[in-house]
Amino acid sequence: MTIYSRLSGVGSYLPGNPVSNDDLVTRGIETSDEWITTRTGIRSRYLADAGQTSSQMAVEAARRALEMAGVEAAELDLIIVATSTPDYIFPSTACLVQGALGNKGATAFDVQAVCSGFVYALTTADKFIRSGSHKKALVIGAETFSRILDWQDRGTCVLFGDGAGAVVLEASEKPGILATALHADGSHVGILSVPGQVAGGQVTGDPFLRMEGQAVFKMAVRVLADVAEECCSNAGMSSSELDWLIPHQANIRIIEATGKKMGLPKEKVVVTVDRHGNTSAASVPLALDEAVRDGRIQRGQRVLLEGVGGGFTWGAVLFEF
Ligand code: ACO
Repeated sequence: MTIYSRLSGVGSYLPGNPVSNDDLVTRGIETSDEWITTRTGIRSRYLADAGQTSSQMAVEAARRALEMAGVEAAELDLIIVATSTPDYIFPSTACLVQGALGNKGATAFDVQAVCSGFVYALTTADKFIRSGSHKKALVIGAETFSRILDWQDRGTCVLFGDGAGAVVLEASEKPGILATALHADGSHVGILSVPGQVAGGQVTGDPFLRMEGQAVFKMAVRVLADVAEECCSNAGMSSSELDWLIPHQANIRIIEATGKKMGLPKEKVVVTVDRHGNTSAASVPLALDEAVRDGRIQRGQRVLLEGVGGGFTWGAVLFEF
C-alpha cells in the first residue's frame, strides 16, 4: 500500500496590529505609500513586539493547526520549523516549540532555506511520512525578519513583516501531497544575504539583510514559473488543472508575472503580500491558512505552494487538500 501525507489542519499567527506604509513614514523612514504600493503592492505588515520571538509565534500558529486537525501535541512524532530568524543559535526553534507544546520524543529540527523554507520543510516532512517512519508531523514557517532589517535602508526595510503559519500532516492511504520539487544555486549568494550576525551581544560582520532588488526580482520570476511547471509535470498534470496557486509573498509584481507566465487567471492566485508584506518562510502557510479559513480552498481541490529566497533556493509542493 502506498502511504501518502495529507494536510489535516492549518493555522497561523500575526503579531500586534497592522503597520501601514504611512506609519513607517511617521516612524521616520524616508519613503511614501505611493512608492511602496506601486513597486511592491504592500500596504501594511505586522511587526513583533520587542520581546516576541519566532518560537512564540510558531507555537500560536501550531496550536491553531493542531486544533483544526483534532490532533494533540503529544501525538506528534515529527516537528519541523522553517526559519532564518531562530530564537537561539541552538537549540533549534523546533525544540523550543516542542517544549512549549509539551511534546516529548518527536523528531524535531529546523530547516534553513530562507523564503523557500516552508516548501523545503513540507517536502522533508512528506518524505518522512511516505517512508513509513513517521505518522503525524507539525510543519511551521515562523519569522521575525524585523530583527534582521537595517531600518536605515529604505530599499529593504519597507518590504518585510513578521508572523507564523503551520500545518499538520498525517499519514493517509489517500493523497495528499502529489508531487514536490526543490532546487538551489549557491552561485547567487551575493544578491540576497545576511552576511554577519549578532550573538551574545557581539556583532560579527554586517548583521542585516542586504539585497540587490532587481537581480532578485528577475531570478524569482524565472524560477517560480519553471518550478511550478516541473512540479505539476511530476504529478502528471498541467498547471491549468490547478485550483489554487499560493506563491511566496514577496512582491505583487513577482506574483502577477508568475501567474501570467503560467497562464493562470488572477482569481486562482492567493495574495496576502498587500497586508502581510514579505514574511519569508511564514508567507506561504500564512496565505494557505487564510484561504482555507475563508472558504476559498475546499477539500479535494489541487493547490500548488511555491517558495523562492536567499541561497538562492526555490521549490514547490503540489497537494490535494
Ligand atoms: N521609498 C522611496 N524611495 C525608495 C525606496 C523607498 N522605500 N527604496 C528605494 N528608493 C529609491 C532608490 O533610492 C532609488 O532612487 P534613485 O533613483 O534616486 O537612486 C529609486 O527609489 C529606485 O530604486 P530601485 O532599487 O532601483 O527600485 P526598484 O524599482 O528596483 O524597486 C524593489 C526596488 C521594490 C526592491 C524591487 O527591486 C523588487 O521588488 N525586487 C524584488 C525583491 C524582493 O521582492 N525581495 C524580497 C526578498 S527575496 C524573496 O523573498 C525572494
